[in-house]
Amino acid sequence: MNVTVGGRTRHYRTVTFKAATNSVQLIEQRLLPHEFKIASTRDYRATALAITDMVVRGAGAIGATAAYGLAQGARAFRGGGLAKFRAHVGKVFQTLKEARPTAVDPVNAMLQVRREMRAGKTVAEQQALALAAAEEFANGDAAHCEAIGRHGVKLIRDGMRVLTHCNAGWLAFVDIGSATAPMYAAQAQGNKFHVFCDETRPRAQGASLTAWELAQQGVSHQVIADNAAGHLMQRGEIDLVIVGSDRTLGRTGEVANKIGTYTKAVLAARHKIPFYVAIPLSTIDWGMRRGRDIPIEERSEGEVLGAWGVVESSKAKGKGQKLGERAYVRIANPTSGARNPGFDLTPPELITGIITPAGIFKPRELWRNRRVLQSAAH
Ligand code: MRU
Repeated sequence: MNVTVGGRTRHYRTVTFKAATNSVQLIEQRLLPHEFKIASTRDYRATALAITDMVVRGAGAIGATAAYGLAQGARAFRGGGLAKFRAHVGKVFQTLKEARPTAVDPVNAMLQVRREMRAGKTVAEQQALALAAAEEFANGDAAHCEAIGRHGVKLIRDGMRVLTHCNAGWLAFVDIGSATAPMYAAQAQGNKFHVFCDETRPRAQGASLTAWELAQQGVSHQVIADNAAGHLMQRGEIDLVIVGSDRTLGRTGEVANKIGTYTKAVLAARHKIPFYVAIPLSTIDWGMRRGRDIPIEERSEGEVLGAWGVVESSKAKGKGQKLGERAYVRIANPTSGARNPGFDLTPPELITGIITPAGIFKPRELWRNRRVLQSAAH
């Protein structure tokens, strides 16, 4: 999407690859919305670390990063024949897979790259195919999001107030975003609507990333505290909910997404507000049979016990802190610990529809339509 920094507007993708230096280029998401910077990783281990440390985050974006990371690792291989090359690629795959556990997109993306590499008869051919396949995945991710916009746009009528949770915008993908795709399509059609961004504690991706994206695109929006959604729903101030997903089970229609999604789905059902999940096809896990088998990432307790932000001018004075400097502040009682599950599971009965690049489906209809969906993936 377009980004305007210091009065200059330019189109950016969240993740790209520089072949000349064999490096992955990432928008440094930990610094947003306060600073816009591109980070570069020079080898696959650094790329895996960028995923773990959330320099890049969001299902599609870490999928594309893992795909490029696999190509990066494959291209760095020197010497020794196809058998050693395959073992090396296996190690790279495993390192990137372990960087974060809940989203399935990195695994699906790397499986796609590995499948396409197999056509190469030499190491050099497979290295070239790996990069081409990673580019194909990244382009496909952007195309999927565009198609989600085409299908989802009809849900956003003039005057609507839409709630979204966390960031399933373009920063969470290569471009456009999944939950935001229908919003950008509605904006392009000239519809007027308003978006409420859940703050999304503990890391506040809604307040920092979704709000920044919508502000950049000129979409009317406000940030709300996570606890405010029920109140607004009860007052009739929310008409529609659209969220993303990190893993959606094709067999059951269960949706794993950022912690707090389940709560919003329960509230939406109570108030009879349509609740949609927007996903590219790489977010569907066709193999897993039960939602409770999805690995739910447990993150550090420091994320719950405090928060990151930048120092404002009045607070910086006399404290030895620099204006605009990134700082962590402790919020919780100093002797208390915390639990920090990063994701939760929303059952299919709470979901009105899944917006995919191939159309909108009831969650339990995914499995019946798997042929259509799987063929649309490529
Ligand atoms: O922990 P994150 O920021 O990587 O979590 C991913 C998300 O942003 C959300 O869960 C999102 O709604 C789905 S990813 C498109």
